[in-house]
Amino acid sequence: MTSIRAPSIPLVITTPAEAARAVARELAELIRARRRGGRVAVLGLPTGRTPLELYDELARLHRDEGLDFANVVTFNLDEYLDLAPAHPRSFRSFMREKLFERVGIDPLNAWLPASDVAPSQVDAHCRAYEREIAAAGGIDVQILGLGRNGHIGFNEPGAERESRTREVRLAATTRADAAAEFGGLANVPERAITMGIATVLAARRIRVLAFGASKREVVRRMLVDPLGPALPATFLREHGDVRLFLDSAAAPAS
Ligand code: GLP
Repeated sequence: MTSIRAPSIPLVITTPAEAARAVARELAELIRARRRGGRVAVLGLPTGRTPLELYDELARLHRDEGLDFANVVTFNLDEYLDLAPAHPRSFRSFMREKLFERVGIDPLNAWLPASDVAPSQVDAHCRAYEREIAAAGGIDVQILGLGRNGHIGFNEPGAERESRTREVRLAATTRADAAAEFGGLANVPERAITMGIATVLAARRIRVLAFGASKREVVRRMLVDPLGPALPATFLREHGDVRLFLDSAAAPAS
């Protein structure tokens, strides 16, 4: 594993498997330390292909090394709107299958925005989500992937630094990237609920994962583009405890 101090964000260039192990180890240490102190660990979690090895490793730590998730509270970054919660492509279904059921987390401790909230209730639902995060004590570690267009969560280009959990319209590239999973672009939802940039930046630690050549350009821009809404991931440079795990294909040329 090579650590490079980039101008703004510490980079860890390694393999996806080693990145998964390193981040899982960090989460396990936090969970165990909080358990000893009789407290919860609060994790912010993403969906997508990128965190799959991390979720596999957390499941392995639970199965083989007794890592107990009884004192873990999770908040997912985002969720599609206009899908039944049990829809196979909802992020709720994804998280159940890829992590929650494998580590025995209490469903009452695993929070996601609702995918079926009535239009008139969306704002109240988003405010309630922020209140639940605060009531849990705030997010200790936020895990993030990166969209090819620089989105974090579903904070698409144009998202403001002060944004909080809210309804958003998905960008064309984001919908196109999801089309295959939904069996065609027409089936991809147009709206979602996402934590805002300010919600993400309020986490005490942020660990970003990006693997493969398709992420190389967005990683490069995240490190050098002007900080601002044109590339929401640039806002991560403002955070005091962020680390970016890359494989060699995603790493910018040095
Ligand atoms: C999705 C999610 C993001 C995720 C990103 C990258 O749209 N809302 O939270 O980080 O796209 O996905 P992947 O990891 O599959 O490349």
